[in-house]
Amino acid sequence: MNHILCKGGMPLQGSVKIQGSKNAALPILAATLMTEGICHIRNCPKISDVYSMLYLLEKLCCEVKWDLEGVRIDTRNVRKCEPCKDTFSCMRSSICLLGALIGRERDLTIESPGGCVIGERPINLHLSALEKMGVQFTFEESKIHAVHHGLHGTHITLPFPSVGATENVIMAATLAEGKTILKGAAMEPEVRALGEFLNACGAKIRGAGTNLIEVEGVRNLEAATYEIPTDRIVAGTYLLTLAGCGGNVFLQNAPAKDMKAVLEILRELGVGLELSGKGIFVQADGHVKRIPFVKTMPYPGFPTDLQSLLLTVLTVGEGETILEETVFENRFKVVDELRKMGACIEKIDERKVCIKGVECLRGAGVKALELRGGAALITAGLMAKGQTRIQGVKYIERGYENICRDYKELGARITSG
Ligand code: UD1
Repeated sequence: MNHILCKGGMPLQGSVKIQGSKNAALPILAATLMTEGICHIRNCPKISDVYSMLYLLEKLCCEVKWDLEGVRIDTRNVRKCEPCKDTFSCMRSSICLLGALIGRERDLTIESPGGCVIGERPINLHLSALEKMGVQFTFEESKIHAVHHGLHGTHITLPFPSVGATENVIMAATLAEGKTILKGAAMEPEVRALGEFLNACGAKIRGAGTNLIEVEGVRNLEAATYEIPTDRIVAGTYLLTLAGCGGNVFLQNAPAKDMKAVLEILRELGVGLELSGKGIFVQADGHVKRIPFVKTMPYPGFPTDLQSLLLTVLTVGEGETILEETVFENRFKVVDELRKMGACIEKIDERKVCIKGVECLRGAGVKALELRGGAALITAGLMAKGQTRIQGVKYIERGYENICRDYKELGARITSG
């Protein structure tokens, strides 16, 4: 797929099923390496980030097979496998393999993840936490070498609730000697999912999904079956699109209990919501009420991954909103593209913008520069008058199984080519 074309101005109708969560699936797929046997990961999303992770697992001698319910990962040959030197250099997200492999590899080299368009993305918190567990790091150009003589449990306090660092500590601590207590942990539902999966494999983790996590190290893990929870960010994407376009939609399996802050903002925007155990009914007239100030925060706050979607919805209507990004330092990449569609957004500083509502957005040629900003451009295209052509679709495919099919099911005029 090279581009997406959409014609806006239509309310959405119908029902759509929400896919499995990307951010839960990636660390869980990495964590299968800590087991020996065949793990069955059900409801695993078919997105390019997952395919990249599976490619890495295959390079580490896992056998990967998709079936109707998900993916099976056979890790029985991993221990005999000698990872080739550049296995980890091919993908930025190899950082979540660090915690998964460090328990059994006493000598490991990975590629430093480096920066990307949404920010610097340093890994200092991952490294200092693992150092406390006995790992020594050395650096050579873009490579990180990790060496240890057995991991040991310890007390760690994260100065910021980093999701990736929390997940790496949980994985490393699971196969360490003794007990690890992690304070200031990220509380995201995806961290809870990783804890649930590892516990199903025989780990002893308490408190994953809260800011205090205790892990009692175990000697080894068995393979297990686990069902990836539904993606709260994909559900939030569609909810915000509904707020901008209007309509009547049922989001099947949307994980309402993990979306409190998002649902609160939607209610403030004037969107009607009815929650059930099976999903969320949404009703919106396409005219959003103005919110004067919003900021993103680590969970349970409003997620940074939905910031560009919210920003897009707020481009239309009377009044102004100040939107502050507190998690990543460079997550306003979508602003210049939205301006091409007639949006009026002023940058106050690197982390704050002022959105001045306009009467309507106009269709234009725009380019996705990253995953969520790309999804936001589709939302903008569906809200706008006229036709919008979105390039850079490969970024959107990193996290959405088939966003065009989903919107088409809801009656949107959208095609890909
Ligand atoms: C995860 C999610 C991503 C989401 C983010 C925040 C996955 C695969 N990705 O990313 O979609 O946007 O959480 O909810 O789950 N930081 C440091 N030092 C570190 C680690 C992080 O300074 O060692 C900073 C980062 O630069 C960033 C902030 O902490 O500004 C949040 O990062 P973190 O929570 O670690 O996000 P990721 O795990 O990379």
